[in-house]
Amino acid sequence: MQLLKVYYAYFSPGNTTEKVLSRIASSFENYPVESINLTSYDERQQEYHFKENELLIIGVPAYGGRVPVPVVDALSRFSGLNTPVVLVATYGNRDIDDTLMELKKNVTDKGFIPVGAASFVCQHTFLKECAEGRPDEEDLKMAKEFGDKLKERLRLLVTYDTSNLEVPGSFPYTKPPMGEFPFKVETNDYCIYCMLCADVCPVKAISDSNPKDIDNSKCLRCGSCLRICPTQAKSFTEEPFKALQQKLAPLCGIRKENWYTIC
Ligand SMILES: Cc1cc2nc3c(=O)[nH]c(=O)nc-3n(C[C@H](O)[C@H](O)[C@H](O)COP(=O)(O)O)c2cc1C
Repeated sequence: MQLLKVYYAYFSPGNTTEKVLSRIASSFENYPVESINLTSYDERQQEYHFKENELLIIGVPAYGGRVPVPVVDALSRFSGLNTPVVLVATYGNRDIDDTLMELKKNVTDKGFIPVGAASFVCQHTFLKECAEGRPDEEDLKMAKEFGDKLKERLRLLVTYDTSNLEVPGSFPYTKPPMGEFPFKVETNDYCIYCMLCADVCPVKAISDSNPKDIDNSKCLRCGSCLRICPTQAKSFTEEPFKALQQKLAPLCGIRKENWYTIC
Protein backbone atom coordinates (compact mmCIF):
# COMPACT_ATOMS: atom_id res chain seq x y z
CA MET A 1 0.00 0.00 0.00
CA GLN A 2 1.26 3.43 -0.98
CA LEU A 3 1.12 5.84 1.98
CA LEU A 4 0.39 9.45 1.07
CA LYS A 5 0.49 11.16 4.45
CA VAL A 6 1.33 10.47 8.09
CA TYR A 7 -0.35 12.12 11.08
CA TYR A 8 0.70 11.84 14.67
CA ALA A 9 -1.76 12.86 17.38
CA TYR A 10 -0.83 13.12 21.06
CA PHE A 11 -2.27 14.14 24.39
CA SER A 12 0.73 15.20 26.42
CA PRO A 13 0.41 17.74 29.23
CA GLY A 14 3.94 16.88 30.45
CA ASN A 15 5.46 16.59 26.93
CA THR A 16 6.94 13.10 27.36
CA THR A 17 4.33 11.41 25.13
CA GLU A 18 4.91 14.06 22.49
CA LYS A 19 8.67 13.28 22.56
CA VAL A 20 8.05 9.57 21.96
CA LEU A 21 5.48 10.17 19.23
CA SER A 22 7.59 12.67 17.30
CA ARG A 23 10.51 10.23 17.38
CA ILE A 24 8.35 7.42 15.99
CA ALA A 25 7.01 9.78 13.31
CA SER A 26 10.56 10.83 12.39
CA SER A 27 10.93 7.46 10.62
CA PHE A 28 8.42 8.73 8.04
CA GLU A 29 10.39 11.84 7.10
CA ASN A 30 10.03 11.02 3.37
CA TYR A 31 6.27 11.53 3.63
CA PRO A 32 4.29 14.65 4.46
CA VAL A 33 3.95 14.47 8.27
CA GLU A 34 1.46 16.53 10.31
CA SER A 35 1.02 16.65 14.08
CA ILE A 36 -2.26 17.00 15.96
CA ASN A 37 -1.91 18.32 19.49
CA LEU A 38 -4.81 16.82 21.43
CA THR A 39 -3.61 18.54 24.62
CA SER A 40 -5.01 21.72 23.13
CA TYR A 41 -8.68 22.17 23.98
CA ASP A 42 -9.39 23.78 20.61
CA GLU A 43 -7.61 21.13 18.52
CA ARG A 44 -9.57 18.44 20.38
CA GLN A 45 -12.93 19.95 19.37
CA GLN A 46 -12.21 19.59 15.63
CA GLU A 47 -13.32 16.74 13.39
CA TYR A 48 -10.60 14.64 11.79
CA HIS A 49 -11.29 12.43 8.78
CA PHE A 50 -8.54 10.16 7.50
CA LYS A 51 -8.26 8.27 4.23
CA GLU A 52 -7.18 4.73 3.47
CA ASN A 53 -3.71 5.65 2.30
CA GLU A 54 -2.93 7.80 5.32
CA LEU A 55 -1.39 6.63 8.59
CA LEU A 56 -2.43 7.84 12.04
CA ILE A 57 -0.08 7.38 15.00
CA ILE A 58 -1.86 8.20 18.27
CA GLY A 59 -0.28 8.43 21.71
CA VAL A 60 -1.68 9.02 25.19
CA PRO A 61 -0.39 8.69 28.76
CA ALA A 62 -2.04 6.07 30.97
CA TYR A 63 -4.23 7.94 33.47
CA GLY A 64 -5.26 5.49 36.18
CA GLY A 65 -4.67 2.70 33.65
CA ARG A 66 -7.13 4.20 31.14
CA VAL A 67 -7.19 6.61 28.20
CA PRO A 68 -7.54 10.19 29.51
CA VAL A 69 -11.25 11.10 29.29
CA PRO A 70 -10.75 14.19 27.04
CA VAL A 71 -9.08 11.94 24.45
CA VAL A 72 -11.99 9.49 24.48
CA ASP A 73 -14.24 12.46 23.72
CA ALA A 74 -11.93 13.74 20.95
CA LEU A 75 -11.83 10.30 19.32
CA SER A 76 -15.60 10.44 18.86
CA ARG A 77 -14.86 13.12 16.23
CA PHE A 78 -12.21 11.00 14.42
CA SER A 79 -13.10 8.80 11.47
CA GLY A 80 -11.09 6.57 9.19
CA LEU A 81 -11.69 4.71 5.94
CA ASN A 82 -9.86 1.49 6.78
CA THR A 83 -7.06 3.82 7.83
CA PRO A 84 -4.05 2.11 9.45
CA VAL A 85 -3.45 3.30 13.00
CA VAL A 86 -0.59 2.87 15.46
CA LEU A 87 -1.48 2.97 19.17
CA VAL A 88 0.96 4.20 21.79
CA ALA A 89 0.55 4.38 25.58
CA THR A 90 3.12 6.05 27.80
CA TYR A 91 3.21 5.42 31.54
CA GLY A 92 5.09 6.40 34.65
CA ASN A 93 6.69 3.06 35.57
CA ARG A 94 3.59 1.57 37.19
CA ASP A 95 1.41 0.00 34.45
CA ILE A 96 -0.71 0.87 31.42
CA ASP A 97 -3.45 -1.59 32.54
CA ASP A 98 -6.25 -1.18 29.95
CA THR A 99 -4.99 1.95 28.16
CA LEU A 100 -4.05 0.25 24.87
CA MET A 101 -7.13 -1.97 24.94
CA GLU A 102 -9.36 1.10 25.37
CA LEU A 103 -7.50 3.01 22.65
CA LYS A 104 -7.87 0.04 20.31
CA LYS A 105 -11.62 -0.30 21.00
CA ASN A 106 -12.19 3.40 20.44
CA VAL A 107 -10.50 3.51 17.05
CA THR A 108 -11.62 0.20 15.56
CA ASP A 109 -15.23 1.34 15.95
CA LYS A 110 -14.39 4.40 13.86
CA GLY A 111 -12.93 2.90 10.69
CA PHE A 112 -9.29 2.44 11.71
CA ILE A 113 -7.23 -0.74 11.52
CA PRO A 114 -4.56 -1.13 14.21
CA VAL A 115 -1.26 -2.11 12.61
CA GLY A 116 1.09 -1.48 15.51
CA ALA A 117 1.03 -0.79 19.24
CA ALA A 118 3.59 0.17 21.86
CA SER A 119 4.04 1.16 25.46
CA PHE A 120 6.86 3.46 26.52
CA VAL A 121 8.01 4.31 30.02
CA CYS A 122 8.15 8.04 30.77
CA GLN A 123 8.86 10.02 33.92
CA HIS A 124 5.90 9.92 36.29
CA THR A 125 3.98 13.19 36.56
CA PHE A 126 3.47 12.68 40.30
CA LEU A 127 6.99 11.62 41.31
CA LYS A 128 10.01 12.70 39.31
CA GLU A 129 12.22 9.97 40.80
CA CYS A 130 9.88 7.41 39.21
CA ALA A 131 11.38 6.72 35.74
CA GLU A 132 13.32 9.98 36.10
CA GLY A 133 14.55 11.47 32.83
CA ARG A 134 12.65 9.04 30.64
CA PRO A 135 12.22 8.86 27.74
CA ASP A 136 16.03 8.87 27.62
CA GLU A 137 18.28 8.31 24.61
CA GLU A 138 17.82 4.54 24.81
CA ASP A 139 14.01 4.90 24.85
CA LEU A 140 14.05 7.31 21.92
CA LYS A 141 16.32 4.96 19.96
CA MET A 142 13.69 2.26 20.48
CA ALA A 143 10.93 4.64 19.38
CA LYS A 144 12.85 5.23 16.14
CA GLU A 145 13.44 1.50 15.70
CA PHE A 146 9.67 0.95 16.11
CA GLY A 147 8.97 3.65 13.52
CA ASP A 148 11.50 2.19 11.05
CA LYS A 149 10.00 -1.30 11.36
CA LEU A 150 6.47 0.05 10.94
CA LYS A 151 7.46 1.89 7.81
CA GLU A 152 8.98 -1.25 6.31
CA ARG A 153 5.98 -3.39 7.27
CA LEU A 154 3.47 -0.93 5.82
CA ARG A 155 5.45 -0.76 2.57
CA LEU A 156 5.13 -4.54 2.16
CA LEU A 157 1.44 -4.88 3.11
CA VAL A 158 -1.06 -4.88 0.26
CA THR A 159 -4.08 -4.47 2.53
CA TYR A 160 -4.58 -4.02 6.29
CA ASP A 161 -7.98 -5.74 6.37
CA THR A 162 -6.84 -8.94 7.99
CA SER A 163 -4.94 -7.27 10.84
CA ASN A 164 -6.12 -8.24 14.32
CA LEU A 165 -3.49 -6.80 16.53
CA GLU A 166 -3.25 -8.16 20.09
CA VAL A 167 -2.71 -5.57 22.80
CA PRO A 168 -2.44 -5.97 26.57
CA GLY A 169 -5.41 -5.14 28.78
CA SER A 170 -8.86 -6.48 29.41
CA PHE A 171 -12.44 -5.63 28.57
CA PRO A 172 -14.62 -4.95 30.57
CA TYR A 173 -12.02 -2.52 31.87
CA THR A 174 -10.67 -3.12 35.36
CA LYS A 175 -10.39 0.55 36.39
CA PRO A 176 -12.81 3.51 36.41
CA PRO A 177 -12.30 6.04 33.58
CA MET A 178 -10.62 8.84 35.52
CA GLY A 179 -8.92 6.98 38.30
CA GLU A 180 -9.71 8.25 41.76
CA PHE A 181 -7.52 11.01 43.05
CA PRO A 182 -8.10 12.13 46.62
CA PHE A 183 -6.08 15.31 46.07
CA LYS A 184 -6.84 18.48 44.13
CA VAL A 185 -4.99 21.57 42.92
CA GLU A 186 -4.70 24.37 45.47
CA THR A 187 -3.55 27.95 44.94
CA ASN A 188 -1.68 29.95 47.58
CA ASP A 189 -1.18 33.69 48.03
CA TYR A 190 1.89 33.81 45.77
CA CYS A 191 -0.54 33.81 42.83
CA ILE A 192 0.02 36.93 40.69
CA TYR A 193 -3.06 36.41 38.50
CA CYS A 194 -0.94 36.10 35.34
CA MET A 195 -3.47 33.56 34.01
CA LEU A 196 -0.82 31.30 32.49
CA CYS A 197 -2.39 28.37 34.35
CA ALA A 198 -5.82 29.04 32.83
CA ASP A 199 -4.24 29.29 29.36
CA VAL A 200 -2.37 26.00 29.68
CA CYS A 201 -5.10 23.88 31.31
CA PRO A 202 -6.07 21.24 28.72
CA VAL A 203 -9.67 21.05 29.96
CA LYS A 204 -10.37 24.71 30.85
CA ALA A 205 -10.86 23.75 34.50
CA ILE A 206 -9.39 27.06 35.72
CA SER A 207 -11.52 30.20 35.47
CA ASP A 208 -9.94 32.75 33.09
CA SER A 209 -10.90 35.58 35.43
CA ASN A 210 -9.87 33.98 38.74
CA PRO A 211 -7.06 31.39 38.71
CA LYS A 212 -7.99 30.27 42.23
CA ASP A 213 -11.39 29.15 40.97
CA ILE A 214 -10.83 25.57 39.80
CA ASP A 215 -13.53 23.15 38.69
CA ASN A 216 -12.37 19.92 40.34
CA SER A 217 -14.87 17.83 38.43
CA LYS A 218 -13.07 18.82 35.20
CA CYS A 219 -9.47 18.91 36.56
CA LEU A 220 -7.39 15.93 35.35
CA ARG A 221 -4.58 16.35 37.95
CA CYS A 222 -2.22 16.51 34.94
CA GLY A 223 0.00 19.08 36.68
CA SER A 224 0.20 21.53 33.74
CA CYS A 225 -0.72 24.47 35.98
CA LEU A 226 1.88 23.50 38.61
CA ARG A 227 4.62 23.38 35.98
CA ILE A 228 3.75 26.68 34.26
CA CYS A 229 3.19 28.79 37.42
CA PRO A 230 6.04 31.36 37.67
CA THR A 231 5.56 31.82 41.44
CA GLN A 232 4.96 28.17 42.47
CA ALA A 233 1.52 29.16 43.74
CA LYS A 234 -0.08 25.86 42.73
CA SER A 235 0.29 22.53 44.50
CA PHE A 236 -1.60 19.30 45.01
CA THR A 237 -3.34 18.91 48.41
CA GLU A 238 -0.38 17.99 50.56
CA GLU A 239 -1.30 14.95 52.66
CA PRO A 240 -3.17 12.76 50.15
CA PHE A 241 -0.63 13.65 47.46
CA LYS A 242 2.28 12.64 49.71
CA ALA A 243 0.49 9.36 50.44
CA LEU A 244 0.24 8.64 46.71
CA GLN A 245 3.92 9.48 46.24
CA GLN A 246 4.76 7.01 49.02
CA LYS A 247 2.73 4.34 47.22
CA LEU A 248 4.69 5.01 44.03
CA ALA A 249 8.09 5.17 45.75
CA PRO A 250 8.84 1.39 45.51
CA LEU A 251 8.72 1.72 41.71
CA CYS A 252 11.51 4.29 41.66
CA GLY A 253 14.54 2.02 41.55
CA ILE A 254 13.16 -0.26 38.85
CA ARG A 255 13.86 0.21 35.14
CA LYS A 256 10.80 -1.07 33.32
CA GLU A 257 11.14 -1.87 29.64
CA ASN A 258 9.29 -0.51 26.63
CA TRP A 259 7.28 -2.86 24.44
CA TYR A 260 5.99 -2.87 20.86
CA THR A 261 4.20 -5.10 18.39
CA ILE A 262 3.59 -4.81 14.65
CA CYS A 263 0.95 -6.64 12.62
C1 LIG B 1 -3.79 11.74 36.36
C2 LIG B 1 -2.61 10.84 36.10
C3 LIG B 1 -2.77 9.47 36.17
C4 LIG B 1 -1.68 8.63 35.91
N1 LIG B 1 -1.86 7.27 35.95
C5 LIG B 1 -0.82 6.46 35.68
C6 LIG B 1 -0.99 5.04 35.69
O1 LIG B 1 -2.08 4.51 35.85
N2 LIG B 1 0.10 4.25 35.49
C7 LIG B 1 1.35 4.79 35.29
O2 LIG B 1 2.31 4.03 35.18
N3 LIG B 1 1.52 6.14 35.20
C8 LIG B 1 0.47 6.98 35.38
N4 LIG B 1 0.63 8.34 35.29
C9 LIG B 1 1.91 8.86 34.82
C10 LIG B 1 1.84 9.23 33.35
O3 LIG B 1 1.24 8.20 32.58
C11 LIG B 1 3.25 9.47 32.81
O4 LIG B 1 3.94 10.35 33.64
C12 LIG B 1 3.23 10.01 31.38
O5 LIG B 1 4.53 9.99 30.91
C13 LIG B 1 2.73 11.44 31.30
O6 LIG B 1 2.70 11.81 29.94
P1 LIG B 1 2.93 13.31 29.45
O7 LIG B 1 4.28 13.74 29.96
O8 LIG B 1 2.93 13.21 27.96
O9 LIG B 1 1.83 14.14 29.98
C14 LIG B 1 -0.42 9.19 35.56
C15 LIG B 1 -0.28 10.58 35.50
C16 LIG B 1 -1.37 11.40 35.75
C17 LIG B 1 -1.18 12.88 35.64
